[in-house]
Amino acid sequence: MPLTSPKEMFDKAYQGQYAIGAFNVNNMEIIQGIIQAAEEEKSPLILQVSAGARKYAGQHYIIKLMEAALEESDLPIALHLDHGQDFDICKEVIDGGFTSVMIDGSHLPFEENIALTKKVVDYAHDKGVWVEAELGRLAGVEDEVSSEENVYTEPHEAVEFVERTGCDSLAIAIGTSHGAYKFKGEPKLDFERLDTISEMLPRYPLVLHGASSVLPEFVEMANQYGGQVSDAKGVPEDFLRKAAKSGVCKINIDTDIRLAMTAVIRKYFKENPQEFDPRKYLGPARQAVKDMVQHKIKTVLGSSNKV
Ligand code: G3H
Ligand code: 13P
Ligand code: ZN
Repeated sequence: MPLTSPKEMFDKAYQGQYAIGAFNVNNMEIIQGIIQAAEEEKSPLILQVSAGARKYAGQHYIIKLMEAALEESDLPIALHLDHGQDFDICKEVIDGGFTSVMIDGSHLPFEENIALTKKVVDYAHDKGVWVEAELGRLAGVEDEVSSEENVYTEPHEAVEFVERTGCDSLAIAIGTSHGAYKFKGEPKLDFERLDTISEMLPRYPLVLHGASSVLPEFVEMANQYGGQVSDAKGVPEDFLRKAAKSGVCKINIDTDIRLAMTAVIRKYFKENPQEFDPRKYLGPARQAVKDMVQHKIKTVLGSSNKV
């Protein structure tokens, strides 16, 4: 089965009030773990590649790994560029075979974000590629994605932005942030704002970035085996279920994958200090990714048996 567009996945997800998981991939074990989970759950899937991941693994390798995975799978799988920062990177991945891109002009003034997004939309649509854009800004620091403050999406601007750019889906800011430290006190998202945006953009797929739950079992395991991940806090899973019922069709998860792998590898190293075969620790790390993703699909996203 070739790579697919997210269009049909989102149409069905919107109708069915569930969400498609968009999982960040950086290497073979992560890709395999996620796909194995989706296979068992018969769930549609989005695999996404950040600029940092593309630099780390190489676009060619990622595409070849995807081709290998697709030879063995009948699932609808979309390959998406996460946080494309300019036109050139979007063009390069579109030309390379990605079926979906995000152009992230969220750091730009409104009119400049519109102009950049529109330019990508024109190029992508010509080739049948889906475009996600972002309005508002998420706090958090990753390799190539960073902002110190959270700027919530203004509903009227969201409508104007979608109309003027023709983007296919929109990432909104309602209080989530990237990374493992999302909330200082009690977790809180602006669901009222989400509902307003969703009502003003009927049948339009919204995207929630920064949606990892920072699962306590992995934070505790990482810390028990020498890690120093203190005061980490993510988005409660019932918040994600609620978002999926309010027009959010795509939920982005990266940090939970990083934590699951790191916790399991730390445990393995501590318990097996004499071992040095990478398969011995990458194997359990891949299994941890699979189990975590399967849990998300089944009990949080609600996308099991939707293919
Ligand atoms: O939203 C950001 C993703 O978690 C990707 O992070 O730029 O470190 O690969 P990265
Ligand atoms: P997390 O850091 O919450 O996993 O968010 C990932 C993300 O939004 C990727 O674009
Ligand atoms: Zn993101």
